[in-house]
Amino acid sequence: AVMEKGNYRHFMEKEIHDQPEGCQRTIAAYVDTLTTRTKIPGDIDFAKIDRIQIVACGTAYIAGLLGKYLIERMADLPVDVEVASEFRYREPALNAGSLAIAISQSGETADTLAAFRYCQAKGMQSAALVNTVESTIAREADVIWPIHCGPEIGVASTKAFTAQVAMLSALAVAAARQRGKIDEAEENRLVRVLLEAPRLIAESINLEEAVRAIAVDVSKARDVLYLGRGPMYPMALEGALKLKEISYIHAEGYAAGELKHGPIALVDEATPIVILAPFDSYFEKSASNMSEVMARGGQVVFITDPEGERNAPAGARVVVTAPKCDPLIAPLVFSAPIQLLAYHVAVQKGADVDQPRNLAKSVTVE
Ligand code: G6P
Repeated sequence: AVMEKGNYRHFMEKEIHDQPEGCQRTIAAYVDTLTTRTKIPGDIDFAKIDRIQIVACGTAYIAGLLGKYLIERMADLPVDVEVASEFRYREPALNAGSLAIAISQSGETADTLAAFRYCQAKGMQSAALVNTVESTIAREADVIWPIHCGPEIGVASTKAFTAQVAMLSALAVAAARQRGKIDEAEENRLVRVLLEAPRLIAESINLEEAVRAIAVDVSKARDVLYLGRGPMYPMALEGALKLKEISYIHAEGYAAGELKHGPIALVDEATPIVILAPFDSYFEKSASNMSEVMARGGQVVFITDPEGERNAPAGARVVVTAPKCDPLIAPLVFSAPIQLLAYHVAVQKGADVDQPRNLAKSVTVE
């Protein structure tokens, strides 16, 4: 089928706006709406496996990091995530009792495929979290977990990312239940939280005008720093990756607690600092990092929620307020603002958003 941009200027913009529907399809595949319980295809007993090894590249790797944060905290199951190009050559120590998950939109990334095969050769069960079900990685897996978000055309991944994260969120709930970390009532509650995600993602996409206004300033920067804690740390990595991919502005994502160990040296009036901090158990620590960068003249773009906005340290001039949500789906709800920021900075700079220089949609050579 010929893909159409409809009323959008770029596929990336369309795909950002496709996310409520994309995630809705992903979530519908992994929860039962009648019983409000999770359903994860394949005969994987999460109570029996000793560990999960995720392999992936690029944005899919960052989705994997979010999976680690969610699965370890909720299911008390160790998860390792590694970029496939490193993993495949360093002879990692693995256990046949672990589960390998390859995350890949295309299902054809050469390094991810090689890393996945390495796990299989060690006797591990294998699952493919892919968008393209007729891909090599999907064909070679024991279990296929499709994300069902529809074809993604923009080179910079957006809707595949949120769909991958949505599936991993359902997986975290399922594993927590199977491992006896939550009871059925809590599983029911968390499934209802997942089912709310598409509506809340749509609300955060409505922040587009506010984000576009901020993008005008950010487009003048030479460097941008993204900071976050907990699940907002991988989100900071994703924000920085999106910005450098399509706007060519140098950006770094950092764990906010590492600020003092390096990046604070970069802070000056010319460096926007994007701080991702919903009002969660990490909020106070992130707010204090925010005060530290403001004291050094840093221009903070504060992406938070209504409660975080009320509790923000004085002086944050630019605030983006995403809708309030359960921590389980905060990465989904905070995705649109960081994607839209990168998108509008790139548009502001006149960059070719869908075909950024030197990048390919699918990297089938190593
Ligand atoms: C390329 C794309 C990225 C993508 C990565 C992994 O670098 O530009 O958007 O995240 O490959 O691709 P995959 O198809 O394996 O998810």
